[in-house]
Amino acid sequence: MYSIAIDGPAGAGKSTIAKLVAKKLGYIYVDTGSMYRAMALACIREEVSSGDEENVVRICDDLSITISYEDDKQQVFLNGENVNAYIRTEEVGNMTSAISVYGPVREKLVNLQRQMASKADVIMDGRDIGTCVLVDANLKIYLTASSRTRAMRRYEEYRASGKECNLEEIEKDIIERDYRDMHREISPLTKADDAVLVDSSDMSVDEVVDKIIELAEKYFIKKN
Ligand code: DC
Repeated sequence: MYSIAIDGPAGAGKSTIAKLVAKKLGYIYVDTGSMYRAMALACIREEVSSGDEENVVRICDDLSITISYEDDKQQVFLNGENVNAYIRTEEVGNMTSAISVYGPVREKLVNLQRQMASKADVIMDGRDIGTCVLVDANLKIYLTASSRTRAMRRYEEYRASGKECNLEEIEKDIIERDYRDMHREISPLTKADDAVLVDSSDMSVDEVVDKIIELAEKYFIKKN
């Protein structure tokens, strides 16, 4: 099986890029953030605070997360319920970053992610894919962009979907989330030594996709 790991901070474009690369290569795209988001949604619904480690861990221990694909799109199920429509909010994003610091929460999902990579060729994105989940990935990318660029992208996504939002607040949230993801004790977001750094601040989506395909061809895919 082949695997490509893409790590990087929030809003760097990981999922957009990974989906397109997956399509071009015929790989499965695994969005690990959405698995953590489904767990965070469960905690929000149970009205537990992110600082209450004991209850967060208990809730996450008891629930089941499963993944399936419909028209190539990843669907996340929380105890059998498809929760894709509820996990993309700022509230869930912030809760996710806060609860993903706990070891037992991570362990459960890391096992699921490794199982998925053992069954199919995957391109997997997250924060710890190259450093923890798939340390032997055939290609590792650390995708980043300036916090302003990332905030602008989120802002435009929200506006396009008709949501009210404020650019300064989005950037502040992004900076806080990056700090937490990069400074947690277990599996902090960091570039793996053997990852290729790609800064997408001044690159179009197509340029980033082409760059990754080029790297995949250089690293492990034979051109016919
Ligand atoms: O990629 P995302 O924005 O959907 O991720 C939401 C949060 O989930 C992120 O702030 C940190 C956490 N996360 C993680 O800790 N490890 C991963 N592999 C993926 C996401």
